[in-house]
Amino acid sequence: MATERTLSIIKPDAVAKNVIGQIYARFEAAGLKVIAARMQHLSQREAEAFYAVHKERPFFKDLVGFMVSGPVMIQVLEGEGAIAKNRELMGATDPKKADKGTIRADFADSIDANAVHGSDAPETAAAEVAFFFPGLAIYSR
Ligand code: PPS
Repeated sequence: MATERTLSIIKPDAVAKNVIGQIYARFEAAGLKVIAARMQHLSQREAEAFYAVHKERPFFKDLVGFMVSGPVMIQVLEGEGAIAKNRELMGATDPKKADKGTIRADFADSIDANAVHGSDAPETAAAEVAFFFPGLAIYSR
């Protein structure tokens, strides 16, 4: 399997619960390396731009409102099959449907406050990494 990079966000609910370290431990145990990271309180404009693909969806306003409600932890993960591996670790969008032992099953409260975001395909991963880390030197060994 090829080495990939994917964009991960620990959302305001999980940051507020003080579980950044527990989520990072899951990435690392699964063989994913954190190769860039930044904590940030997104502006309305940044959140709307990041989620622009969903702007016609009924939940767009709620999603953006939630993502600007507190600081988030944004990271680039690298590893073999990183995109699918991260999605597997995250679990289903709705924590009620997420498999036991996944991040969302363990840390998320609802479909609105669902703890983490992860890129869903190589094209979106490349675009999302560039969105938050444009032209940044990403260190990797
Ligand atoms: S995906 O990955 O695009 O197939 O996921 P999808 O289920 O279509 O959801 C896209 C993002 O919208 C969030 N979402 C919601 N937010 C608020 N309320 C409701 N009802 C809701 N449903 C979906 C979902 O968590 C996805 O956000 P990210 O940040 O990508 O996880």
